[in-house]
Amino acid sequence: MKHILVTGGAGFIGSHLVDSLLKDDFNVVVLDDLSSGKMENLPDDERLHFIQGDIADHGLIDEVFSQFTFTHIFHLAAIASVHESVTNTYRCHQVNCEASLYLLEKARKCTALKRMVYASSAAVYGDDPSLPKSEDSPTRPISPYGIDKYTAEQYMLTYNRLYGVPAVALRYFNVYGPRQNGGSMDGGVASIFLNKFLSSKRPVVTVYGDGQQTRDFVYIKDVIGATRFVMGHETAAGNVYNVATGRETSILNVIQGLEACTEQKAQILFSEKRTGDIERSFADISRLRALGFTPRYSLLESLGEYVASAGEIDHPQAR
Ligand SMILES: NC(=O)c1ccc[n+]([C@@H]2O[C@H](COP(=O)([O-])OP(=O)(O)OC[C@H]3O[C@@H](n4cnc5c(N)ncnc54)[C@H](O)[C@@H]3O)[C@@H](O)[C@H]2O)c1
Repeated sequence: MKHILVTGGAGFIGSHLVDSLLKDDFNVVVLDDLSSGKMENLPDDERLHFIQGDIADHGLIDEVFSQFTFTHIFHLAAIASVHESVTNTYRCHQVNCEASLYLLEKARKCTALKRMVYASSAAVYGDDPSLPKSEDSPTRPISPYGIDKYTAEQYMLTYNRLYGVPAVALRYFNVYGPRQNGGSMDGGVASIFLNKFLSSKRPVVTVYGDGQQTRDFVYIKDVIGATRFVMGHETAAGNVYNVATGRETSILNVIQGLEACTEQKAQILFSEKRTGDIERSFADISRLRALGFTPRYSLLESLGEYVASAGEIDHPQAR
């Protein structure tokens, strides 16, 4: 029997991907150590095989690859925390980079493999000021997390060139949606704010700097759409793609969007700008569009759906 491997499949993005694969009747193996992922993110489904373990454990990876034959690998397991990559750099390197290289070594010998998709990040662009960020923009990562994502991503492309591993790297921008950890300092800002809106009728949100800093916020459904799209696309292998909307949205715009969706007014506390925070970021998504995928969700529409899915606010615009 053939399987699809989703590393980090119990996490925010990974679990939505697993849902989408199960919906299309694939047999899925999830490898996750549950360090930030949760079992409750995964459905109870006989086509899903869950393995709790560390992606950096070579013995376990050897075992998994001897037990299953994979046609596709989605490699999302990571310590997805810039902060932790600064405080625990070596362990993050083992998980975020070295484990990816070992996985590529296994993938290289996997004759049934049709596609390997790697979750890279907009963090690879770092503080390069050019905008919008195209895949050809300079890469100047400013955190160990960004360095590891860039290195692992480049290994994917190099293993494609050297050994024909059908690998694709996706640079996800600021993903948001249900199941994102809005309680942690590394959770997406939209999810952190949403939690504030859910927990109080008069939400108090902290904004670092003047709130005019921008990001390219992309809804989880578009991220899964793009990830599934490259899974089956003939010519995607060996390439890197930005996964974003191509729209520049300020932090204040996100708050306004949440205010509109929830019909609540936030109290904004402006705090000192954080060191290392970049001022502006948005993507050029023409490469992904040229491949045939266009994101569908606008911020207001998706925030509305997200708020409604959180369930605790009666959301008039989502009906
Ligand atoms: N969320 C975003 O905005 C965003 C943006 C760019 C890139 N990414 C990348 O997308 C991927 C998924 O991110 P996410 O937002 O879903 O984060 P997440 O923390 O929800 O998911 C990561 C998953 O990996 C698992 N994991 C961590 N260390 C592991 C280890 N040593 N062994 C096995 N499993 C391990 C966690 O338990 C978790 O389930 C990550 O690679 C992340 O770097 C996310």
